[in-house]
Amino acid sequence: MQHARVPATFDVPLSVPFRHRVTFTRGALEAGNPSLADALAGSARCVAFVDEGVAQAHPEFGSRLAAYLRALDGMPELACVESVPGGERCKRSMEVPDRVVQAVDRHRIDRQSCVIAVGGGAVLDAVGFGAAIAHRGCRLVRMPTTTLSQDDAGMAVKNGINAGGKKNFVGAFAVPHAVLCDEALLESSPGWSWLGGFSEAVKIALLRDPGLFERIERDAAAIVARDMAAAMPVVVRSAELHYRHIVLGGDPFEVRSARPLDYGHWLAHRLEGLTDGELPHGQAVAIGVAIDTMYSVHAGLLDAASGARVVAVLRALGLPTSHPLLADLGAVEAGLEEFREHLGGRLTITLLRSIGEGIEVHAIDPSLLRRAVLDAAAT
Ligand SMILES: NC(=O)c1ccc[n+]([C@@H]2O[C@H](COP(=O)([O-])OP(=O)(O)OC[C@H]3O[C@@H](n4cnc5c(N)ncnc54)[C@H](O)[C@@H]3O)[C@@H](O)[C@H]2O)c1
Ligand SMILES: [Zn+2]
Repeated sequence: MQHARVPATFDVPLSVPFRHRVTFTRGALEAGNPSLADALAGSARCVAFVDEGVAQAHPEFGSRLAAYLRALDGMPELACVESVPGGERCKRSMEVPDRVVQAVDRHRIDRQSCVIAVGGGAVLDAVGFGAAIAHRGCRLVRMPTTTLSQDDAGMAVKNGINAGGKKNFVGAFAVPHAVLCDEALLESSPGWSWLGGFSEAVKIALLRDPGLFERIERDAAAIVARDMAAAMPVVVRSAELHYRHIVLGGDPFEVRSARPLDYGHWLAHRLEGLTDGELPHGQAVAIGVAIDTMYSVHAGLLDAASGARVVAVLRALGLPTSHPLLADLGAVEAGLEEFREHLGGRLTITLLRSIGEGIEVHAIDPSLLRRAVLDAAAT
C-alpha cells in the first residue's frame, strides 16, 4: 500500500458566498409591513433581545412583535423576549453574549432559527456576538435603533465586547442574516445619541461623498431639531456608503491593515478608553474627525478653508471638537500604538486630501498633532 508523502500541502482559495440584506422602513411591526416577515421567513423559532432603553421607551415592543408574528402564516414561533442593558454596559463582560447562548440552548434555537437583536450599536454588538458563537453561528436579525447604528454600526459584519481595557477586543466577524432599520424607532433615542450618529455620516461624507457633506452643512439645523425629512436621507446615504464599502471594498473581514473608514477613529478609540466609555462613540468620533482634519491642514494635505468647514459642520450638529483629556497629549499619543496593534500590522492612518477624498499616512508628527488639537478647539 502506498502512503501519502509527508510533508504535503493543500492550498486552494476558499470563498463562501454571503448575502448582506439591509432594509430601511417605517413601522416595522405594523400589520402589512412585509420587511420583518421577509427577514424571518424560513426560520422555525426566534428569540428577541431588546435594549433596555428601547424597552422603556416602547414597553409594548415585545407584545407587538408577538402579535405581528402571530398574524402571519409561516412565521417563526417567538420563544422569548428579553431586555438587556443598553449602551456600553452590555459590552463590559460576557454576561449578555452568555445570556444569548443560554437562550439559544434553552429554546432550541438551531442554525436555521433566529436571534433578533433590537437596540443601539452596543446591544447589536453584544447580542450579535452571542449569536455568532452559539452553534458556531445562528441567524442574526438586527434592528438598529439609534442614528449611529442605522447609519454605520448596523451595516457592519462584526460583533464583540470590550475586554482587557480595549474596545471590541473579543468578538467575531459574522454577516447578519438581515438588518432592518425602522426610522420610527429613532424618534425615542436620547438627544446625545441622536446627534452622535451624525459624526459617522460626516466622516463617510468626507471620505466618499462631497454632495452628502454639503447636504449635512445645509440641513444641520433641521437635523439638530430632529426633523426626520432632513435627517433620514443623511442616515440612509451614510448607511449605503458604509454598506458599499463592506460589500464591495474587498476586505469585509478586515484582513488588511488599512482601515479606510476609520477616519478620526484612532483618537476616538483612545478617548473612549481613557474616559472608560463615558464619552460616547459618536461624540468621540466627532473630536477625532475634527482633529485629524486640522492635522491634515497642518500637514499640508488639505486647504485651510475646507478644514474650517469640517469643524464648523460638527459644531453646527451640536458635536464636540475637543476634550479636556487632550491637554495631556502624551497619554493620547499612546493611542497610535494601540491602533497599530488593533490593525495588526503597520500603522495606517487615514487623513484628508479634500472634502470627499482620503489619503493614507503611516506616521503622526506630535508637533503637528499639538497644533491640530489647539486649532480644533479654537476654530
Ligand atoms: N460593529 C461595528 O462595526 C460597530 C461600528 C460602530 C460602532 N459600534 C459600536 O456601537 C456602540 C455605540 O452604539 P450607539 O451609538 O448606537 O449607542 P448605544 O448602543 O451605546 O446606545 C445609546 C443609548 O441609547 C439607548 N437607546 C438606543 N436606542 C434607543 C431608542 N430607540 N429609544 C430609547 N433609547 C434608546 C440605549 O439604551 C443606550 O443607553 C459602541 O459600542 C461602538 O463600539 C460598532
Ligand atoms: Zn465609528
